Amino acid sequence: MTDRKATLSVGEQSIELPVYSGTVGPDVIDVRGLVQQGVFTYDPGFVSTAACESAITYIDGANGVLLHRGYPIEQLAEHSDYLELCYLLLNGELPSAEENKKFHETIKNHTMLHDQMRNFFHGFRRDAHPMAIMCGVVGALSAFYHDQMDLKSEEQREITAHRLIAKMPTIAAWCYKYSIGQPFVYPRNDLSYSENFLQMMFGVPCEEYKPNPVLAKAMDKIFILHADHEQNASTSTVRLAGSTGASPYACIASGIAALWGPAHGGANEAVLDMLNEIGDVDNIETYIAKAKDKDDPFRLMGFGHRVYKNFDPRAKVMAETAHEVLSELGMEDDPLLKIAQRLEKIALEDDYFIERKLYPNVDFYSGLILKAIGIPTSMFTVIFAMSRTIGWYSHWNEMVSGDYRIGRPRQLYTGSPKRDYPTK
Ligand code: SDX
Repeated sequence: MTDRKATLSVGEQSIELPVYSGTVGPDVIDVRGLVQQGVFTYDPGFVSTAACESAITYIDGANGVLLHRGYPIEQLAEHSDYLELCYLLLNGELPSAEENKKFHETIKNHTMLHDQMRNFFHGFRRDAHPMAIMCGVVGALSAFYHDQMDLKSEEQREITAHRLIAKMPTIAAWCYKYSIGQPFVYPRNDLSYSENFLQMMFGVPCEEYKPNPVLAKAMDKIFILHADHEQNASTSTVRLAGSTGASPYACIASGIAALWGPAHGGANEAVLDMLNEIGDVDNIETYIAKAKDKDDPFRLMGFGHRVYKNFDPRAKVMAETAHEVLSELGMEDDPLLKIAQRLEKIALEDDYFIERKLYPNVDFYSGLILKAIGIPTSMFTVIFAMSRTIGWYSHWNEMVSGDYRIGRPRQLYTGSPKRDYPTK
C-alpha cells in the first residue's frame, strides 16, 4: 500500500483520504474516515466499491483476464485439475507432487455423509428444487460439526475445508437421486473426484458404473471454471455472514442461497430454459428484440457481466469444451447448440450489445455441456454451487484468519422525518 492521498471537497470541507495500490488493478481510496466527517459514500450494487483486500483471485474485466493466485484460468483449465486448484485457492501456492497426492487422498476420506443426514433429504417433497435441498442440507452440516468450530484454529479450519470439498459432490448427487426417486449411491474411493461425482449421479446398485473419461474431464473442467470469481454476489454474501463469526457451514449455505438467483449462478439453468423457449433459429431475432426492449423484462440469459466488459475467459474455454463433449456424444447437430451459436453471433454483431459490452459469460455454454452429459436443468446451479464452494471457503478463510470486523453498511435515508405518534 502507498501513502498517496486523494482530496475530497464536500461543501466547505476538504477531506484528505489515503490511496492504496494493489499488486495489479485499480487503486483504492480508503473512505473509512468519512463517517467522522458526517458523510457516507453511496454505491448501490457496489459497482465502484472494494469491500476488502484479497490475494485469491484477480479479474481484469476490460481485457478478459482471470487469475487464481496469479495463474491464468486458461492455463489452469488446460493443465490442472479441480482438486489441485482447490489446494491452490486455499493455500496460495500449487502443491508439490507429494502434497497433491496427499491432498487427493485426504479428500477421498471425507466424501461420506453422517448417516443421520439422509433424514434431511427425506424431509423434502420429491419435487423440491435441488437448490432448496442443497441449501438446507449444507446448512444442516453446521449441526454435525459444532464441536470443531474454533474459528481461530487453523487445524479446524483446514479440516472444515476438506469436509466441504469432499462432501459437496455427495450432497449434490443425492439431491438429484432424491428428486428422481432412486437410491443414494455412495462415493467410491477408486475413482477421481469428477468420475466419482458422475457415478453418484448416474450409478445404480444394479450394475457397476463405468465413467466416460471425456465426460469426466469435461466435468472437471466445469468445476475448474466455476471455482472462484473474486467478490461476486455469493462470495460477498459468505464474507458478510462470516464477518459475524457464524459457522462456516452456515456461511456456505448463505452463498448457495445467493447463487440461486437467475442474475447470478441461476443463469445457467435460465440459459437452457431460454434456448428451449426460443425453440428455433428463426425465432432468434424476436428474442433479441425482446432483450433490447426496455419495457420487456426479458434479458438474454448467459450474456453480460458486472465486471467483464470484454469476453469472459471462462466462456471461451467452456465453448471449446461444449464442442468436445457434443462431438464425443455425436451431438454436434444438437438443435440447442445451433440456437446458442446463432444467438451468440447475432448478439455480438448487434449495436445494442456492442455498445453495452455484453458478451457471453460463463453460464452461456455450461448448460449445453451439462445437458449433453444427461444432467437435468434443475441441477445446473447445484453443480455451480458445488464447484464454487472452494472459492467461498477460501475467501471466508482468508478473512477469518486475518484481522476483520463485522460488516455493517450504512444508507441514504429517504424515509419520513421524525414525527409524533398521534394521540387521541
Ligand atoms: C454470474 O459477479 C460475478 O463474478 C458473477 C459470476 C461468477 O462467476 O460469480 O461471473 C457468475 O453471475 C455471471 C452472470 C450470469 N447472469 C446472467 O447471465 C443473467 C443475464 N445478465 C444480466 O442480468 C446482467 O448482465 C448481469 C446481472 C450479469 C450484470 O448486470 P449489471 O452489471 O447490473 O448490468 P446492468 O443491469 O446495469 O446492464 C447494463 C445495461 C442495461 O441497459 P441500459 O439500462 O444501459 O440501457 O445492459 C443491459 C441492461 O438492460 N443488459 C442486458 C443484459 N445484461 C445487461 N440487456 C439484455 N440482456 C442482458 N443479458
